Amino acid sequence: MKAIWYEKQGDALDVLTYGEVEKPTPASNEVLVKIHFSGLNPSDTKRRVGFRGQKHAFQTIIPHSDGSGVIEAVGNNVDSKRIGQKVWIYSAQWQRPYGTAANFVCVPSNLAIKLADTTSLEIGATIGIPALTAYAGLFKYGEIKNKIVLITGGAGSVGNCAIQMAKHAGAKVISTVSSDKKMKAALNAGADHVFRYDSKNLVEDILSTTNRRKIDLIFDVAFGINLEAHLDLIKDHGIISTYASDKKAIAEVPFQKFLLMNLTIYSVFMYVLTDDMMQNALEFIRKWQVNSGIKPFVAKIYHLEKTADAHLALESGETIGNIIIDCRNE
Ligand SMILES: NC(=O)c1ccc[n+]([C@@H]2O[C@H](COP(=O)([O-])OP(=O)(O)OC[C@H]3O[C@@H](n4cnc5c(N)ncnc54)[C@H](OP(=O)(O)O)[C@@H]3O)[C@@H](O)[C@H]2O)c1
Repeated sequence: MKAIWYEKQGDALDVLTYGEVEKPTPASNEVLVKIHFSGLNPSDTKRRVGFRGQKHAFQTIIPHSDGSGVIEAVGNNVDSKRIGQKVWIYSAQWQRPYGTAANFVCVPSNLAIKLADTTSLEIGATIGIPALTAYAGLFKYGEIKNKIVLITGGAGSVGNCAIQMAKHAGAKVISTVSSDKKMKAALNAGADHVFRYDSKNLVEDILSTTNRRKIDLIFDVAFGINLEAHLDLIKDHGIISTYASDKKAIAEVPFQKFLLMNLTIYSVFMYVLTDDMMQNALEFIRKWQVNSGIKPFVAKIYHLEKTADAHLALESGETIGNIIIDCRNE
């Protein structure tokens, strides 16, 4: 089969190789999936470059954790009725060497989730990391119906997905972005109000849409940078869920202010959700597909052979939407 792989960390054009590798065979409890689309996320490029000290954990790595496809064969202990099922995949390359940037992948059966009949395989490849992160950050502390939720980075893969999920769950959603183009993307996802985060009046802008009611839950992509403004926006006993702080790894926390507000800070790392949280997330995602439908948010589709270009596009920070890779040999 054709695949992309790398044997050492480095820049995309230096280390990503396209070529022929052996087609895998499913072991016990595994399924063999013919990949249609591989989903690219920042964790894939960060792992490839060794971001914040990440080690090259396997001799050969086929990248990408997310994807979609059709089950072609199953190993022992897996119901053969799964053969032919359309699935979305998550965590394929989390603590495992071979991910979805290939014609086929073998994964434990529980990582290949049945797609709703109405969800396309293109959209299926965008679900994994964004949706599981968004679910955990939004729902860890219970339902959000009628709550005011601020979702920063509403044109990002995770943020955009979170807007859709929070609206599906009945929240009032405010979002922030960096440009007018990105504002459109956040509005398309369903946000009730969207503001530029570089506005000098951000706090006032946001409170003007809520009758000055403070925010119940903030789902944040840039914890270190945004914390100061967020402490002026979050209500007492509120929750700040955060999943990234790329530009400021060490955040300064004004402890007294924080203490008096009885705040909860939840750091989301989607790869290690509890089993309960994961089951709840999968059930939510299933119903969300069936009841609302997931709005497509695909920026560009690259051919498998051009995966290095896809990595460069993601790293440029210029794309709006998910980048996916077409892994079919067509
Ligand atoms: N913890 C986890 O489990 C987990 C899961 C998924 C992703 N992540 C991490 O989360 C980050 C985002 O992932 P992604 O796939 O959503 O990336 P993405 O598609 O690049 O989106 C990130 C978005 O955040 C915006 N942004 C940056 N700084 C901001 C700020 N101060 N305020 C508001 N918005 C801001 C960016 O806009 P501008 O660039 O225009 O500012 C961009 O639209 C990455 O670092 C990724 O590795 C973590």
